[in-house]
Amino acid sequence: MSPRGGGAGGGGASDFAHADRAAKFILSKTKLRPRVAVVLGSGLGAFADDLAGAVRIPYEKIPGFPRSTAEGHAGRLVIGKAGDVVVAAMQGRVHFYEGYSLREVVFPMRVLGRLGIRATILTNAAGGINTDFKQGALVVIRDHIDLQGSNPLIGGNDERFGARFPDMTQAYSKSYRSIATEESRRLGIEVFEGVYAALTGPSYETPAEIRYLRTIGADLVGMSTAPEVIVARHMGIRVLGISCVTNMAAGILDQPINHAEVMETGERVKGQFVALLRAVLPRIAADAGGK
Ligand code: HPA
Repeated sequence: MSPRGGGAGGGGASDFAHADRAAKFILSKTKLRPRVAVVLGSGLGAFADDLAGAVRIPYEKIPGFPRSTAEGHAGRLVIGKAGDVVVAAMQGRVHFYEGYSLREVVFPMRVLGRLGIRATILTNAAGGINTDFKQGALVVIRDHIDLQGSNPLIGGNDERFGARFPDMTQAYSKSYRSIATEESRRLGIEVFEGVYAALTGPSYETPAEIRYLRTIGADLVGMSTAPEVIVARHMGIRVLGISCVTNMAAGILDQPINHAEVMETGERVKGQFVALLRAVLPRIAADAGGK
């Protein structure tokens, strides 16, 4: 499953070289120079479809990029313009549950860093643990609890990426959270704020696990995002995270969870989601030094 043949640990220096190579490849395909990236989760890829003047690069063409195997993930990088803002949009991501190592999972974020990205908006589908949330709600991530059991920075640290022990006190930028809240109010879209717990999946949680997650302070549960955020912060990239509550978490409603439902809900709220993304982007791009 290893696209670069890399193993755990000790690969810091080569990760840097590999990421640089992939970034150069991508930059050779477009004159656009994005400072902001958007990672589009399950069913939320619509945003990238109408970027103007876009170049669309399938992940398999990018040296070292892992391929997305999850349903609902297109698996391509789109660089184009949303209004005046140049943006790099990842239409789909890879997950730990697909069998990739965490280093591989975060390789695209490394590449985005080497590409010149300074701010990123990470989106995902999540189960709602907080019962104030309803299916279809959008939630700005305030913080995360990473329960994936390992950390993408394990192994040799490459100082060119960042420090050995990166600070995570403001993993999700407070000012970006405010921007998202303000813009959602302006648009009349209700958004909540909450703590995202990252588990590996691919099985959904048990009701007992959801009660445990609620006890430790989680409002949402999902299978992505946290490793990418760790690596983004390692590189000094500022982060906004937004979850779409595609279903209430296990045991809250008297019904099983299925992936089709997750996809359907994503589809239903994608209009709102894209509107919110478009509204926050210019303000985040201004902060990131893009246009
Ligand atoms: N649990 C974990 N991940 C998810 C869920 C869930 O209930 N819904 C969407 N992604």
